[in-house]
Amino acid sequence: MSDHSKTRNDSTPRQRLRRLRRTPALRDAVRDTTIPIDGLIYPLFVGEMEQPIPVASMPGVSQWPVQDAVQTIKDLSRDGLRQFILFGVTPDSKKNATGSYAADPDAPVNRVLQSVRDAGLDVVMHADLCFCEYTDHGHCGVLIDGAECTGGDPSVVDNDRTLANLGQAAAAQASFGADVVAPSGMMDGMVAAIRGALDDAGHQQTAILSYAVKYASNFYGPFRDAGEGGMRFGDRRGYQMDFRRGREWCTELLADLDEGADMVMVKPAAAYLDVIKGVRETCDVPVAAYHVSGEYAMLHAAADRGWLDLKEAALETTYAIRRAGADLIVTYFAPDLIKWL
Ligand code: PBG
Repeated sequence: MSDHSKTRNDSTPRQRLRRLRRTPALRDAVRDTTIPIDGLIYPLFVGEMEQPIPVASMPGVSQWPVQDAVQTIKDLSRDGLRQFILFGVTPDSKKNATGSYAADPDAPVNRVLQSVRDAGLDVVMHADLCFCEYTDHGHCGVLIDGAECTGGDPSVVDNDRTLANLGQAAAAQASFGADVVAPSGMMDGMVAAIRGALDDAGHQQTAILSYAVKYASNFYGPFRDAGEGGMRFGDRRGYQMDFRRGREWCTELLADLDEGADMVMVKPAAAYLDVIKGVRETCDVPVAAYHVSGEYAMLHAAADRGWLDLKEAALETTYAIRRAGADLIVTYFAPDLIKWL
């Protein structure tokens, strides 16, 4: 061994790993994870209220009247945000057993879609496609007859009857200008049913972002306040995935790809990085991850107590979701991220 290599070897253990961490420019130069603004999707809750209503459990997030939502989209798109996903907040008087208001031209989501399209903005509009915001019982589809009286068993949603309704609602959302419909109800066969209905209605160009891998999560709590889509009884464990099953995502993913999903979503995100990574490695369609309401709320809650730095913790979380393999990230931090990045 020459003296030269001996010297090099001796210095290696103590210096090598720190050399590229020395200055901010060096650290930026060698990082392998970035967060492209184009890949951020900002969720907006739209309803028939007169004024924006802040969501108590989600600081910075409001329910928006239609005009304010459209203005928010215009303003944020000027700042560089390019993608939005809409959720409806529906007054009780418009809810029913099937959630048919989802397809109504007067429904706030549909009015926002139409206005954004009329304004000609170069943004991607996603429409969340689920009935829990529109049904009077709060479940994600029609119930099997008599289910409510049977005490609210969670497996009460009638999968196949819900599929036909999803197809209709998807075609309606497409006709009002959705670029992407995003079914989040975890019905089996939903992607095929929606693809068929879209094509039959002449919306071959409308894409489907399937919430293919969606767990029955405790982290949706604040969203159910924001969307007023909580269940009147039961829970969603009969149709959303059990987080104790670590491999089932593969079956869900392959089914949705086979049925024609253009993009797939993993939800929640931060507690499911292993799943995001698996999905990313298993398919080549764009993979989205949804950093959900509870994941957002808990960072705010801890920051409010001075227990962590909101900006740094939110950035770290978002980078982690990217590092795991998400191409697109649905996040309530999107307006903050465009300032921070
Ligand atoms: C509706 C839907 C939910 C979320 C998105 N779409 C709630 C649920 O499944 O109960 C949650 C989003 C969030 O928590 O931020 N199916």
